[in-house]
Amino acid sequence: DNLKKCDIIIFGAHGDLALRKLMPALYHLHQDGHIDESSRIIGVSREKLSTKEYSDLISEKFQTSFKDESYDEKIFQKFISTLIYISIDLTNEIEYKKLSKVLKGHEDKERINYLSTAPSLFGIICKNLAQMKLIVPTSRVVLEKPIGNNLASSQVINDEVSKYFEESAIYRIDHYLGKDTVQNILALRFSNMLFTPIWNTQYIDHIQITVAESVGLEGRWDYYNNYGAMRDMIQNHLLQLLCLITMEPPSTLDGDRVRDEKLKVIRALRFIEGDDLKLKTVRGQYGSGVSGDKSVPGYLEEDGGNSNSDTETFVAIRADIDNWRWHGVPIYLRTGKRMSERYSEIVIDFKDIPHSIFPKGGVCIDSNKLVIRLQPDESISMFIMNKVPGLNEGMKLRQVELDLNISEDAPRSPDAYEHLLLDVVRSNPTLFMRRDEVEAAWVWADKIIEGWKSQGIKPKSYKAGTCGPSSSMALIERDGRSWYEK
Ligand code: BG6
Repeated sequence: DNLKKCDIIIFGAHGDLALRKLMPALYHLHQDGHIDESSRIIGVSREKLSTKEYSDLISEKFQTSFKDESYDEKIFQKFISTLIYISIDLTNEIEYKKLSKVLKGHEDKERINYLSTAPSLFGIICKNLAQMKLIVPTSRVVLEKPIGNNLASSQVINDEVSKYFEESAIYRIDHYLGKDTVQNILALRFSNMLFTPIWNTQYIDHIQITVAESVGLEGRWDYYNNYGAMRDMIQNHLLQLLCLITMEPPSTLDGDRVRDEKLKVIRALRFIEGDDLKLKTVRGQYGSGVSGDKSVPGYLEEDGGNSNSDTETFVAIRADIDNWRWHGVPIYLRTGKRMSERYSEIVIDFKDIPHSIFPKGGVCIDSNKLVIRLQPDESISMFIMNKVPGLNEGMKLRQVELDLNISEDAPRSPDAYEHLLLDVVRSNPTLFMRRDEVEAAWVWADKIIEGWKSQGIKPKSYKAGTCGPSSSMALIERDGRSWYEK
């Protein structure tokens, strides 16, 4: 009963994200009773549709792709009755009168403006909202990535938005932070004493973070070709994972305390420049190959593509954090499209024991590993050495897995957007990115991207459906290590 009454305004309501992610997330929040029943969802987009036509579209989508076991027709009808659609040319101030009319008389509701549009519209939407006096003290604005494609362009957008909204009212989404499994990193690290004393350079040899996707471009050439894997994945999702794994314990879960710690890590990332670019980074681009059991085209032959793009669809990086805790502990990052399978995994590889008391013949003592699997299944495994049971001569050892399968007993796992939308409703900014954090991440990523350009480092081709270019193996093997394979 302390649910907030909200008007949730989705700009870009006809777009892919709104239809595929935001509406199902709002439905689930509605179904689970997290949103006050008097709250409304106001879809705004350029497409000329009536509320009825828009509702039918959502309904159709639910019937086909979104329907899962938790779908309930009655609740869906109630949910859809909270929906209002307005067609607006977002660049035209006068057209916001239509929105103004809908909002009038609902001043008791908190206003959430979710900008699921091209980032080039963020500034103008905020300006038009302000001109039409549609920003009230409870208004907040949610910004979808990408916010710019380098430091300078992200600053322009952030400057625009911050003319109309205080930083505390700006919620920048990185949907990885909304994943239950990603938040579990916080739980694992900060509610288990077990890991606390060993979480540093003294005991950890290196860390690997892999986010592999089996999909290709999914019809997003225009966007993707201007970004590439470095800007699309590393600058945000992988750096966020790196931060959660390596940051100092925040004093509380409060938004600024957590973000302060993440910022410190990003600022301590060593720049990769000069000769290091060739040694510590690998760019790849997929060629044709087989994904699942289908033949798939290469990046350059994708729909809407052209044949002379240097955009990378794969990146591997050796990152180093220059601080006391992580001195000498490389963090290997790897992400790519059209890889052999879809999975995200973090591997903490511990140091070798200092001296073995076991007879040498036939016994290889592997290092301990903590493997945190984020998707598609969620699990945490610890690999430890164990005696082979029985009367074996001279004590034989083997590596065994202590496996905690988390998804097995979990109820329906909420989508990242459900979690994040609910946090916006509750005004909890912890899982959103603060401006200084995003900018620090750009500073580090821009250095690499500029270096690639000035040194003419082009992506290496890899076959779709594989683990990326062979030079990504060389990157880690050069350090006497290898990518973890289950
Ligand atoms: C998005 C990227 O931010 O994350 C996409 O723009 C990528 O290119 C997606 O496919 C991956 O998200 P998830 O949740 O499917 O791992």
